[in-house]
Amino acid sequence: MGKINKIPTFASLKNQKGLLMNTYNTIAETQSFVHQCRQNNLKIGFVPTMGALHQGHLSLIEKAKAENDIVIASIFVNPIQFNNKEDLQKYPRTLEKDAAMLQSIGCDAIFAPSETEMYPEPDTTVFDFGMLDKVMEGKFRPGHFNGVAVVVKRLFEIVKPDNAYFGEKDYQQLQIIKAMVAQKNLAVNIIPYPIVREADGLAMSSRNMRLTEEERTIAPFIHKTLSEAKEKAKQLSPSELTTWVLNQIQIQAIMKTEYFEIVDASTLLAITNWNDSEHAIGCIAIFLGNVRLIDNILLK
Ligand code: PAF
Repeated sequence: MGKINKIPTFASLKNQKGLLMNTYNTIAETQSFVHQCRQNNLKIGFVPTMGALHQGHLSLIEKAKAENDIVIASIFVNPIQFNNKEDLQKYPRTLEKDAAMLQSIGCDAIFAPSETEMYPEPDTTVFDFGMLDKVMEGKFRPGHFNGVAVVVKRLFEIVKPDNAYFGEKDYQQLQIIKAMVAQKNLAVNIIPYPIVREADGLAMSSRNMRLTEEERTIAPFIHKTLSEAKEKAKQLSPSELTTWVLNQIQIQAIMKTEYFEIVDASTLLAITNWNDSEHAIGCIAIFLGNVRLIDNILLK
């Protein structure tokens, strides 16, 4: 009986054949949509984004579609996670194109709030992630992960997803979000997704569209170096391998390494011996001209 009653509502909530996608700018509208989904026992998958979508995001949506009844994406360029004003200003904003892409792939709803909708008052929450947010990105982008944790927690409270999807390119972000969910006891599964790459190996990123033609041809060198490093990890110690990677990157005069670190895949603490960790990951941040790119590779 219950099932029969659900059918019409499900159809009206669902983006069938890319024909209908609900687009909400307010928290109230989104919550009402979520409420209807919940009343119909529909499993919600959520993909938070800052827009400027590419195939990496679409792969997250595809996975979410396969594992849930309803997929909601958010598009919000979160000002409090930018520690650099210029970076925030230059962040690509392509809302119409993004919405068309999401619609065509069968996303069911978008939540695209304004800044005042998300932050009517400044949010002063300070999270304690121990060392997780002090290393690597955290060292060079102070406050960044606190801003990410604040917005993701808010988004989770609004969307109340069963499952939320995050790409492994932002590996440290993924660990921070898992820690935030554990600390706050949020009832959401965090589902990681492998890095999606261009045919030449460059990790897909919204920032890639800011590369000049010349920079774009050089950019795959990052992944090429990391892939070679994975091979060399069989013979070199972590510190020897770090030196090797740093020297390789220097070959490209236009690239400036901000950091390359080999860390334990769970604690994100640097390792000096391969035996110190069950899984070790090499994480890199590089300036290619003015564009900052990150990438990583599992080394062990
Ligand atoms: O990875 C991103 O795009 C952002 O950091 C996120 C998770 C959407 C929070 O603003």
